[in-house]
Amino acid sequence: MKNQKLQDVIKDRYGKIARGEQTFCCPTCGPTVTDQCLAVGYTAEDLQLVPELAVLGVGCGNPTALADLKEGETVLDLGAGAGIDAFLAAKKVGQHGRVIGVDMTEDMVAKGSHLAKQHGYGNVEFRLGYIEQLPVDSGTVDVVISNCVINLTPDKLASFKEVHRVLKPGGRILIADLVTAGDLPPDVRASASAWADCLAGAMPKAAYLEAIRSAGFAAVSVVSESPYEAPGMDARLQGQIISVKVRAVKGQ
Ligand SMILES: C[S@@+](CC[C@H](N)C(=O)[O-])C[C@H]1O[C@@H](n2cnc3c(N)ncnc32)[C@H](O)[C@@H]1O
Repeated sequence: MKNQKLQDVIKDRYGKIARGEQTFCCPTCGPTVTDQCLAVGYTAEDLQLVPELAVLGVGCGNPTALADLKEGETVLDLGAGAGIDAFLAAKKVGQHGRVIGVDMTEDMVAKGSHLAKQHGYGNVEFRLGYIEQLPVDSGTVDVVISNCVINLTPDKLASFKEVHRVLKPGGRILIADLVTAGDLPPDVRASASAWADCLAGAMPKAAYLEAIRSAGFAAVSVVSESPYEAPGMDARLQGQIISVKVRAVKGQ
């Protein structure tokens, strides 16, 4: 499958989710968006803190809970969607900090930007762009967070190199993502729809951690991991998909 076609399918999927035309999982048999969020690690209080329309139930973790964000820091959220994690980060870094959310889907960026304005988040901005070619200056970011996004790119190493470029020396990452316990069936890997579901593009865990090291990061560690199940998931994937939260540092 050509990368451009894959990207078009992913943009189409997340555009529909941003416009409220589709939910991430089966609307009739699946859990609610709130159930999805609680299942991946958000608290009910987290969900109260952010604009309701920013909560799409498409993440696989709660990165700001683990990122140890401090007042005044600059945070970059890769694949920010409608901004759930960007808005949580904004509360933690305060008025002297700032949060930049980057996403390739126009309707996600429009939605996040609208919500930031509507709810008075003066320290959050959303930019249209690709995580493989970030619209962010080099050496300007303290912390990069991301929630269930890097699995969607065919070029994970390029994304991690970009993350390394934009971080300040000593900057850190806290990435929530899906990885695999082993190889996935070839027909799943080849399915654009399974890519958009955040499944087919998931890399084996060891290779994923190695890609982060190859991009130049030090102190790469898995903070937590748990089996990931989605309603209606192909039975052959049961036990194969892992939600990981990874921390690493850009060496001085
Ligand atoms: C599973 S959703 C997660 C959204 C958000 N992080 C959340 O938890 O609500 C994945 C998001 O990543 C974006 N995305 C996927 N691939 C991307 C890429 N290569 N560059 C920028 N954004 C991308 C999609 O448009 C979508 O909004």
